[in-house]
Amino acid sequence: MPELLILNGPNLNLLGTRQPEVYGHQTLADVESLCAQTAKAHGFSVVCKQSNSEGGLVDALHAARGTQVGVAFNAGAYTHTSVALRDAISAIELPVVEIHMSNVHAREDFRHHSYMAPVCLGQISGFGADSYRLAVEALIRHIKGS
Ligand code: DQA
Repeated sequence: MPELLILNGPNLNLLGTRQPEVYGHQTLADVESLCAQTAKAHGFSVVCKQSNSEGGLVDALHAARGTQVGVAFNAGAYTHTSVALRDAISAIELPVVEIHMSNVHAREDFRHHSYMAPVCLGQISGFGADSYRLAVEALIRHIKGS
């Protein structure tokens, strides 16, 4: 079964208790299980990783090369700051979908810019936990069509 990487960045381990008015009440485990169910329905499996450090996320992206067929990635605040993550996405030559639970374009100005967006397949933002389901479906559709 082809495998997807579900990758989460800083503070997303606190989902469920972190600013529930912005990010909802579902935990990271809930979101990961939603990704697993969605992928399974289309004949894919998932491996889920989370890191609070930029280097940990770069390492997870490198490890995906030759192992996973695509990445659904919520880089959290590193989205708006990290050239290293953008370079890692470019380097691994795998399709990556950028995820945000909140609508980053409706929030503070500093969240409007994404270093990653130009090197990702696309961006899904603003649908809460459902952003993950939509990202996994988009990724699978792209992989099956390519
Ligand atoms: C986020 C949006 C980011 O701006 C923020 O720093 C996060 C979460 C989201 O899922 O909406 O940590 O990526």
